[in-house]
Order: sequence, then C-alpha cells, then structure tokens
Amino acid sequence: MQSKPQTQRVKRLLQADRLFGITSVPVPSVLREVVDDGAKGAGVLSTGTVSVDSKRTQLDVLDREQVRGCEKCRLCEKRTNTVFGDGDANARLMFIGEGPGFDEDRQGVPFVGRAGQLLNKMIAAMGLKREDTYICNIVKCRPPNNRDPAADEVIACTPYLHDQIRIIEPDVIVALGAPASKMLLDTQTGIGRLRGRFHDYHYTNLSDEAVSISLMPTYHPAYLLRSPSEKKKAWDDLQMVMKLLGLPMPKR
Ligand code: URA
Repeated sequence: MQSKPQTQRVKRLLQADRLFGITSVPVPSVLREVVDDGAKGAGVLSTGTVSVDSKRTQLDVLDREQVRGCEKCRLCEKRTNTVFGDGDANARLMFIGEGPGFDEDRQGVPFVGRAGQLLNKMIAAMGLKREDTYICNIVKCRPPNNRDPAADEVIACTPYLHDQIRIIEPDVIVALGAPASKMLLDTQTGIGRLRGRFHDYHYTNLSDEAVSISLMPTYHPAYLLRSPSEKKKAWDDLQMVMKLLGLPMPKR
C-alpha cells in the first residue's frame, strides 16, 4: 500500500535522524497517529516510542505536519501564517504569550512587533539572547482585530502547546499576561495576584509520568508598554527566574 505524503515526510525525517545517532524518545500525542501510521510495516516503532534524536526534529514535525495545515477552529480562516514558535528547542527558559498579532501573522514568528521588541529587551536584561530561549503562544493563529482568543479556540489549540512543552521540557516557563497564566494554571485568579511567585505547571511527560515545571506568571510586554510603571514588578519576577536558573544576577 502506498504511504501518505505526510507519512513519507516523517519517515524521511526519521531516517535523517538515524544518520546522526539514535536515541529512543517517546512521541507526543498529536504526532502519534502520524508516526504510528508511518511505522506500520516499516518496523520503526513499538509502543509509542520512536527513534528521533532531536527535540528540534520533533518540533519541526509537529509544526509541519499538524499546525501549519490546522483547521480545528475558525482562526484558520483569516490567518496569513500560523505562528508556531521561535528559539532553542533545548531551551531551559520558555516564554508563553497569548496569540499572534498583526506583525506575527505576517511573518509567522511570535513576538516580533512592539511587544516583541520589549520582550527582547527583557530577555537581554536577564543576560540572555532571545535565541537562547523558546517563545510561543497559546493560540497559533491571529485572532482578528487582536481580540482575545475565544474559549473554544484555546481548547482547540492547546494540545499543540502542551506538546511543545513536553518536547522542550524547559526548567522554567514564564507565562506572559493573564490569559496564558490562567490557562496554564487552570485558574480564574488575576495576574496581579498570580505574579511574584512560582507556581507548578503540572503535565504528563512523554514517558507518561506526572511531572511539573516551575512557572512564573508576569505582566505581558504589551501591558507594560501601556503601563510602564509596572515594569519594576515584571523585572522582580524575571530576577526570581534568573535566580532559579542560576544565572548571574546584575550588580546593584
Ligand atoms: N502578543 C502575544 O501574546 N504574542 C505574540 O506573539 C505577539 C504579541
């Protein structure tokens, strides 16, 4: 039987990976169907693990095979590009925002507009480069007129985010703004009360173990552009993150 084109692409990626050494890594849930399908008759896979040696490859497969063609909610109708994520697949620090805006939709890259410029400065103040971190959003398509994503849009899109987190397994997540913080922590508590301390983001890892990642909620850079007097609090939050990551603290 002829395999589907997407299955052939996954197989090619897996073959390329094998050339650089094999590590058996469990496959995220949204990819399982693709890889299981591709593995039939190919003997690549048993019980949900597959020979994929890089987080980058897993992210690329998730983006190419699942997100780019996604039509699970109405946001697909008006998008120019899906906006999957940007940065180091092995990052220890992951920033999660709400959803792409105008510039992000045009370029297909998260946080490249005005809020993104400020986020870059916040990252630089931590002594890091943007490309040392991983940056993404709750929803991968721009909500029209920059409205908040609706509940059903968030529900449709979050499996992708959960798989990004499962693949990257950062040491710390910084949730930017109320929607990302509330969604990830499954709470209705406001950002003003959530920020300033670490919370646990609970999830099931690729080996089906219940684990958690330290999550710091802080103000969204777009909010900080409107309310610059709150920057000090955001900086306090980021310094707590630096301390947890063991990064050198700025001299007073
Ligand atoms: N705001 C967000 O939440 N995400 C982006 O990518 C850009 C602006």
